Amino acid sequence: MGSNDNKISVKEINMDIKLIDYSDKYKEDLIDVIFDAYKEHPEYGEPDRKSASRYIDWLKTHSTFFKILIVDNEVAGFIVADSNWKDYFDRKTVGEIHEVAIKRKFWGKGLGTFLLNKSLEHFKSAGRNIARLWVGKNNKEAIEFYKRLGFKPLYERWDYLRMERML
Ligand SMILES: CC(C)(COP(=O)(O)OP(=O)(O)OC[C@H]1O[C@@H](n2cnc3c(N)ncnc32)[C@H](O)[C@@H]1OP(=O)(O)O)[C@@H](O)C(=O)NCCC(=O)NCCS
Repeated sequence: MGSNDNKISVKEINMDIKLIDYSDKYKEDLIDVIFDAYKEHPEYGEPDRKSASRYIDWLKTHSTFFKILIVDNEVAGFIVADSNWKDYFDRKTVGEIHEVAIKRKFWGKGLGTFLLNKSLEHFKSAGRNIARLWVGKNNKEAIEFYKRLGFKPLYERWDYLRMERML
């Protein structure tokens, strides 16, 4: 993907942005992103690096879209989604956003929106018409982020809120 196209979608147009497929050589970088991004909500992050490593292994085997965002040659964030997810509760096949995380120093620049929109395009090209996700119910910033992207609350389970958007 040409980085020039991507520059248009984000606020800081002079950032050099690349989206690359996950590979294990980035695993430690992604663990760093998780610990940085969830600093204010450790309850929704990972308790330690070993557990974060296991989480990434799970994401690798439960995704059709696992992309790493590189900004000015630095790993700035990532997104993991599955276009063929069977919802546990109503058995519908949906596009599921498993994870999106951006390092705090890159927040507010439109990068999370950029990644989310890429995953929604991926879902549409796989023929899905619903996108869903779980978000921590006290993770107000992320809930605002998703609402702004058109997601609506569906129901709460345990400490999490289920959200949905038509595509
Ligand atoms: C949620 C997250 C991915 C957003 O990334 P981002 O690059 O900052 O998002 P954007 O710049 O595209 O923000 C788009 C909109 O979301 C909302 N938003 C984003 N961060 C917000 C915050 N901290 N507080 C309130 N609203 C916020 C705003 O409406 C923002 O629009 P604006 O910039 O015009 O005000 C990032 O904050 C993050 O990594 N959080 C920690 C991990 C996490 O909670 N992930 C979701 C798990 S389900």
